[in-house]
Amino acid sequence: MIVTIDGVAASGKSSVSSGVARALGVPYVSSGLLYRAATLLGLEAGLDLHGAAKLLAHLQAHPLRLEPLAGGNRVWQGERELTGGLHSTRVDAGVSVVAALPDVRGWVDAQLRALPAPFVAEGRDMGTTVFPQAQAKFYLTASPRIRAQRRASERPEDVPAIEAALVRRDLLDRVQSAPAPDAVVIDTGPLTLDGVIQTVLAQLPQ
Ligand code: C5P
Repeated sequence: MIVTIDGVAASGKSSVSSGVARALGVPYVSSGLLYRAATLLGLEAGLDLHGAAKLLAHLQAHPLRLEPLAGGNRVWQGERELTGGLHSTRVDAGVSVVAALPDVRGWVDAQLRALPAPFVAEGRDMGTTVFPQAQAKFYLTASPRIRAQRRASERPEDVPAIEAALVRRDLLDRVQSAPAPDAVVIDTGPLTLDGVIQTVLAQLPQ
């Protein structure tokens, strides 16, 4: 079985996916980490993030590996673990530019489709583009202020600055970020993390 959990930035996708995956005893797959890792490698190499050809050549020369675990995903480049550097402010600021490149999207999609099911996949377009055949699809939303407040403990900036960056990223991501027609949309604003996880679990096919 494949379960997809898409949604806007900082809507709780990773925590919810991890909780649902643990309850089901399967891994979860964080597609955003591959976009983040591609961005980090591009920044480190001093590449123009708008330049698809050079960036893709660099990614192919330095293959990345996503390790999907139920508790948290890790990203490796050979023996080097990149995971710890993927949620910095500079990666946040550049990742939507990289994610808008069709070649990079194809590169990420191919890696995701090669993973063995069952799993819970989270991102923006898991239910629409990458796994349209998924048995259960969810889309998480919450207001920008609530999302910024939740993120504030993980970033050095204050809530208004985080909120402005989230709104900017939502705008840049809007092309690939829409609920699948058969997705259940959940407003996570009034719910606790466990409340969202239970809502998802209650709607899974038996
Ligand atoms: O999920 P997360 O917020 O970590 O994703 C980081 C960025 O990666 C998003 O802002 C978006 O630009 C991109 N992304 C995407 N499609 C996905 C997952 C992430 O475009 N399926």
